Amino acid sequence: MEKKRVLVSGGAGFIGSHVTVELIEAGYDVLVADDMSNCDSTCFEGVKKITGRDDIPFVKMTFCDAAATEKLFADWKIDAVIHFAAFKAVGESVAEPLKYYKNNLESFMNVIEAARKRGCNILFSSSATVYGEPDILPVTEQSPRMPSTSPYGNTKQMCEDILRDSVKAYSSIKGIALRYFNPIGAHPSALIGELPRGVPNNLVPFITQTAIGKRECLSIFGNDYPTPDGTCQRDYIDIVDLARAHVYAVRRMLDGKMEQDYEIYNVGTGTPLSVLELVKAFEKVNNLKLNYKFAPRRDGDVTAIWADPSLANEKLGWKATRTTEETLAAAWAWEKHLAGK
Ligand code: UFG
Repeated sequence: MEKKRVLVSGGAGFIGSHVTVELIEAGYDVLVADDMSNCDSTCFEGVKKITGRDDIPFVKMTFCDAAATEKLFADWKIDAVIHFAAFKAVGESVAEPLKYYKNNLESFMNVIEAARKRGCNILFSSSATVYGEPDILPVTEQSPRMPSTSPYGNTKQMCEDILRDSVKAYSSIKGIALRYFNPIGAHPSALIGELPRGVPNNLVPFITQTAIGKRECLSIFGNDYPTPDGTCQRDYIDIVDLARAHVYAVRRMLDGKMEQDYEIYNVGTGTPLSVLELVKAFEKVNNLKLNYKFAPRRDGDVTAIWADPSLANEKLGWKATRTTEETLAAAWAWEKHLAGK
């Protein structure tokens, strides 16, 4: 039987590269497209090594270019598209909202436009940020979406709505939105992982860069939150587990198993971990001491959020399998790999 081909927009980035690996290992053909605006070729080269496939097609392009997007879909037979291509820095989005609205909305609309003409189903990478500061934990897919504190967060909500409305209006397509909690870690091969530019915003890259000596000290933002140890709680999901959720979702779309034309799934572990617990787990599993201090709260942070992942467990047949220890060991191995150690 002919293999199905999945287009991964933004496939050279952190999540996209892990998803590409899992799709290939699950027997799909993958077409990677990326404008390389926020990454270099490190991860794409790593993907080739991990999969032993030197022939993964790659197109350098921006999905903001409607004609280029149309041409891509005309040139290749694409059965499903996973859309990652977007800007993702929360702080930058506050400073440059138009950059975010233009890029993140336009690129997604161009993808939907090209996909709907060809009956190509769409998976959108959404975020737990759409839940804002939840009143009730854990959050289910039915939990209310809250106004976002950043244009970045707004684009996630808007893209969900654009997909929902498009699927409703155009009978040729179906859509799935995956709401990621906090993706962390790296591939166990240490050949692909997170490559933040400049000073990392996210916790785990900041931890690994501090441990390797690139940063002097980790600031833990706030220890006076109403949580058991005073630090924020999140649902940290291993990047390989997260990537596998995409394979299950794509399979559901391509095998005609969707029960609704637009489905939403939380992708998390269901277990909260505090910043301090994560720091301690990192120290323990990697047998090192991390230089850290408590600092004031960071603007825009929610106190606590974690997923109820039971819908994804039941309908996608997906479940997080990797332990925090495995994940944090992989994150550290990746940082050491980058440092040539
Ligand atoms: N943190 C620190 N020190 C740091 C970095 C982070 O203490 O140097 C803390 C944060 O205060 C937070 C936790 O670690 O309590 C996690 O922070 P991250 O930045 O790693 O992740 P967020 O929960 O802030 O980010 C998530 C998603 C983003 C999304 C954002 C919206 O990963 O995609 O929520 O607020 F944009």
